[in-house]
Amino acid sequence: MSLRDAQGNATSTSQPAALAASEQALWRMMSFYGTPADDLDAAIAADPDWLLPRTMKAGFLVSLTEPSLAGEAAALLEAAAPLAKHGTLRERYHFLAVRQAAGGDWLGASAAWGAILDAHPRDALALQWALLFDFYRGDAIALRQRVARVLPAWTADDALRPYVLGHHAFGLEESLRFNEAEAVGREALAASPRVPWAIHAVAHVMEMQGRHEEGARWMNEWRPHWGEGNGFAGHLGWHEALFALESLEHARALAVFDAYLRAEANEITLQRVDAASLLWRLQLQGADVGDRWQRLLAGWPLDASVAGSSVFNDVHALFALIGAGELGRADAWVRTSLTSAAYGGGVWNSQVSRDLAIPLMRGLLDFAHGRCDAAGEAIFPLPAIAARLGGSHAQRDVIDQTLLAIAARGGMKQAGRALLDERRLTKARTPLTEWWSRALAT
Ligand SMILES: [Fe+2]
Repeated sequence: MSLRDAQGNATSTSQPAALAASEQALWRMMSFYGTPADDLDAAIAADPDWLLPRTMKAGFLVSLTEPSLAGEAAALLEAAAPLAKHGTLRERYHFLAVRQAAGGDWLGASAAWGAILDAHPRDALALQWALLFDFYRGDAIALRQRVARVLPAWTADDALRPYVLGHHAFGLEESLRFNEAEAVGREALAASPRVPWAIHAVAHVMEMQGRHEEGARWMNEWRPHWGEGNGFAGHLGWHEALFALESLEHARALAVFDAYLRAEANEITLQRVDAASLLWRLQLQGADVGDRWQRLLAGWPLDASVAGSSVFNDVHALFALIGAGELGRADAWVRTSLTSAAYGGGVWNSQVSRDLAIPLMRGLLDFAHGRCDAAGEAIFPLPAIAARLGGSHAQRDVIDQTLLAIAARGGMKQAGRALLDERRLTKARTPLTEWWSRALAT
């Protein structure tokens, strides 16, 4: 007899061990404690004919946006395809969504997960992945709406509800509803301290509101739950370093970098982009980052095979190449990335590349070569549409800070001061805001 999962969703497995392993994998994906791959292998072994675990493992690999894992994901989907006829309709939709994501149709995949959630609001897997790809697409409205639409179905006694609340807090924060976001994030953590995504959402609120000293205390207070043995530690370390950067405490930011983002600890590109983003911001302020760019690049495979599948990742790789002073490779990387994204990177990244990444990356090259006004002309129009690059407001702030540097070093000071005035709305009195003010004064 087929079983129902802990949230009451019908499955097509009759093997309790397979179901238990898949649910453990789901919890790991939502909490970042450990990797779900071993649990999913156990689920596959316990019920080789069940569609969902192979689909979940393929989806997990795809969700890492790591080109080197695409082949393994494709093989899993191929093995899963004959099993689809035995799956429930919900499971078949999951298979469809992962196949679309694997093919680069991130919008189509999000729509498929959305269709699942309309019928099954307690499908935490659909929620997890829909939100992740909303995040990759920079779709703040979807981040907020998706959770809002399913939240009434999650009762207070459900073990996964704190994770749903963590997602809700982040969607509210990205929708600039800061007070609600912080309240919901704290509610999630009151229910369970092991919800790094909720720690993260409140950190985002503090970052967006210029509460850098409080933010540093927040990260320290919650460190026991994110600092060790959690796959999200690198990104949360990045947030901790941002608070140090806002205080102009470069040595502290570099110490946090070395603790959580050092090159040797990075296994995937998503970790490397945070490292690149932090070093770039430090370098914009004239900080000496030592040989960290070179060490970061040494472990970052950058060739045609990895370009184009995520323009967000590609832009950060360009930061690293420019930061390391490898301008010849940077020029070549832009040509490779843009060609790959335009013709082979899947429909979503191709569109974003054409509309956004091409002018951004060309502008960054101009900046690297000292052509600041040309860089400004290319990049200043972009923040209005930059959300489609993906990531969070805090991650895309690297573009605004680059523009401030471009303005400070070139002739577009008025535009830079206007951008800084906008920044003062939320970060009026931070040391970093004052630093940019001085940089733009002359
Ligand atoms: Fe973040």
